[in-house]
Amino acid sequence: MQKITAAITSVGGYVPEYRLTNAILETMIDTNDEWIRSRTGVEERRILKGEGLATSDMAVPAVLEICKKRGIDPTEIDCMICATVTPDMIFPATANIICDKIGAINAWGFDLSAACSGFLFGLTTGAALIESGRYKKVVIVGGDKMSAIVDYTDRTTCIIFGDGAGAVLLEPSTEDVGVMDSLLKSDGSGKNYLHMKAGGSLRPASVETVQAKEHYIFQEGQPVFKAAVKGMADAAYDLLQRNHLTGDDIAWLVPHQANKRIIDATANRMGLPAEKVMVNIQRYGNTTAGTIPLCLWEWESQLHKGDNIVLAAFGGGFTWGATLVKWAYDTPSAT
Ligand code: UT7
Repeated sequence: MQKITAAITSVGGYVPEYRLTNAILETMIDTNDEWIRSRTGVEERRILKGEGLATSDMAVPAVLEICKKRGIDPTEIDCMICATVTPDMIFPATANIICDKIGAINAWGFDLSAACSGFLFGLTTGAALIESGRYKKVVIVGGDKMSAIVDYTDRTTCIIFGDGAGAVLLEPSTEDVGVMDSLLKSDGSGKNYLHMKAGGSLRPASVETVQAKEHYIFQEGQPVFKAAVKGMADAAYDLLQRNHLTGDDIAWLVPHQANKRIIDATANRMGLPAEKVMVNIQRYGNTTAGTIPLCLWEWESQLHKGDNIVLAAFGGGFTWGATLVKWAYDTPSAT
């Protein structure tokens, strides 16, 4: 029997219109453009403005785009996995809300909470569903409305994050393309450095938790930075090693966009020049689960069938890892 692999066959994305620039942030907090650019690489981020808009409202256009490009109807989707730490509600799952909004009436689905590594964890999970032979069309969405949990008086976090969502379609292939290998890790002791204190069962929402600003992101930047540089670079490097690949064999690194300095460290460790690294942090900031699919979306036309690409992430949890994907198709503009 031929081996079934899970191929990415379509990519979609969505970023909101509103641009929160460094210049605007300078008017809100004690910061400056030079500090933000040099310490993070961010120049502006997109923010989802408007009452009643949530993560699903960014995921929906991304998923509809993949359906349109692939020429399929949402009713053909078997499973929807939504990686997010900013679900529309604690429950039901945002995946269910997305399915309802697009009419994916034949899909089951669930949310996956792995912060900035969520898309990678979702991709590996979705690939296993395809490889099992039981499912033919699995959608992985990575999206976050980070502006919903950012404290815009905290200059150490509000400069980094933005809103956005990306999505991919996974389908079976017998051409030895798609998700080839994943090296994923988690370490719950990292929770002390990056978390949201209240709103869960440990500290349910109360007047006190709101007054203490416990429904916002809490981050100790330096320990997270150190762990991210090591975790992301090690995972990407080890993935190359165990697949007997070097930087020369890799067409693209698709890194989580948390900090340009973390991206550079990972690329250096892999021996990759800057022109092989997807970087859009300057325009979107850190969209958490959205960063990697948004990169694929932006660079899709430059990807060619058979390209080896490495996706790498590090985030809250701690969670981290790297995934090797052999690209499955040429986009019309790339042929
Ligand atoms: O994607 C999820 C995972 N998250 C990450 O990967 C984030 C990892 N961490 C980072 O990217 C960095 O730690 C930050 C960008 C968050 C912070 O950069 P840093 O170089 O680690 O800065 P720092 O926290 O060590 O602060 C250095 C100085 C401090 O001033 P003093 O104490 O040296 O006088 C801060 O108060 O920079 C100050 N500072 C700022 N100055 C201007 C902190 N934030 C700002 C700011 N503008 N926005």
